[in-house]
Amino acid sequence: MAVWEKTNFVTDPLWGDNGKGKVIDLMAQRADMVIRINGGPNAGHTVRNEKGEFALHLIPSGIFNPEAVCALAGTVVVNPILLTEEIKNLRKSDIEINGNNLLISRDAHLIMPWHRTRDNLRETSRGNEKIGTTGQGIGPTYSDRSLREGLRVRDLLSPDFVEKFNKEMSYQEKLAGIMSDNTKTVYYNREKILNDLYEAREMIAPMITDVLPVIWNYHSRRKNILGEAGQGMLLDLDLGCYPGVTSSHPGIAGFNLATGIPPKDVARVIGVTKAYTTRVGEGPLPTELCDEIGEKIRKIGHEFGATTGRPRRCGWLDIPALRYGSRVGGIDTLALTKIDIFDTFSEIKICIGYEVDEVKYVTPPEASNELLAKAKPILTSLPGWEKDTSSCKTFNDLPKNAQRFVMSVQEWAGKRIELVSVGSDRQASIYT
Ligand code: IMO
Ligand code: MG
Repeated sequence: MAVWEKTNFVTDPLWGDNGKGKVIDLMAQRADMVIRINGGPNAGHTVRNEKGEFALHLIPSGIFNPEAVCALAGTVVVNPILLTEEIKNLRKSDIEINGNNLLISRDAHLIMPWHRTRDNLRETSRGNEKIGTTGQGIGPTYSDRSLREGLRVRDLLSPDFVEKFNKEMSYQEKLAGIMSDNTKTVYYNREKILNDLYEAREMIAPMITDVLPVIWNYHSRRKNILGEAGQGMLLDLDLGCYPGVTSSHPGIAGFNLATGIPPKDVARVIGVTKAYTTRVGEGPLPTELCDEIGEKIRKIGHEFGATTGRPRRCGWLDIPALRYGSRVGGIDTLALTKIDIFDTFSEIKICIGYEVDEVKYVTPPEASNELLAKAKPILTSLPGWEKDTSSCKTFNDLPKNAQRFVMSVQEWAGKRIELVSVGSDRQASIYT
């Protein structure tokens, strides 16, 4: 069976925010095409390279390679206003973005102001059971897609755009009224929204295209294709810890949905995980540290959301969740990021199993909210290295205890660690 050595995919086995941006930026140096496959501006991918430091939300993290074509797949949800702001900001840093290096699928759904209204109304009505969404309108936009409603990128270019827009807006006003129990009437500023959309359209029109044939063309010419996921496997709508999930598919299945490239044609799927585990939003996090150690990790690791600024909940590396996420996401190898955050720690723990109702699991059979809420972490302790790792260039440069930590994670995770990151700069990367 032919394996296309040149198609690779980077995702996250856990709850997101593990450093996909950094790994994509690094790998994109050798890529011909970088495709963002799912989600929308709920993502925050941080990249630091010779051009500066950037928090990307919609634009693929391969944009810093001027030779690579970046694409937003039809399975991404696009907020055209935020997208144009992102383009403007990147252009200010002299990053060239045009119809040659950024392609936007005509099939992607548009996130409109009413999707954010619905996201927030729904969250408020959930009370104590709220999901802690990013408030970006992700769920409502994907719901409209499932209902086969809403506006798509292609509609922006349609001659009857205004007609479609008017119909959609009056429907959404009624819907928001119903959602708020008719206690208030929600009106949108039609002129303002339309003007914003016209402005966005002017900027992105040259980038809007049929992305699939371009992907297939690259694929059949055996070009280097790199997939970039948003979020992480534990946030997958079907395989994650429902309902504390997002509305899309960050794993290998999502790559297939976005590109039409079957999983068997993907040479390797790289799962990016930090040396510890974080989660932003509500829902169980078995290894969460609600003490000064958790606080220390958050402070040194700058664990605040790149999209919402919310403090991230921090805990020891959760191997059972990692094993589950790697399995269901089709992950082959791992990239271990932020080990430098532990440079000052004298002791580091790893969660190597769960105990649930007196049953022990190395790989839990499911990632349900119920199971995770009951899971008691089984921890093992490793000595810290108490040395600065930020200037290490090779695996052998790492202090012995840091090497031991990496090898232990590799063993417990059951996946080869091919990359270790010791800082946010592109250069601070060690191939093992
Ligand atoms: P990146 O790509 C971490 C979380 C939210 C919430 C849940 C649903 O940076 O790894 P949504 O707004 O998607 O409906 O929220 O998913 N979430 C993320 N957490 N990293 C992300 O993206 C996330 N995108 C969504 O906090 O719990
Ligand atoms: Mg992030």
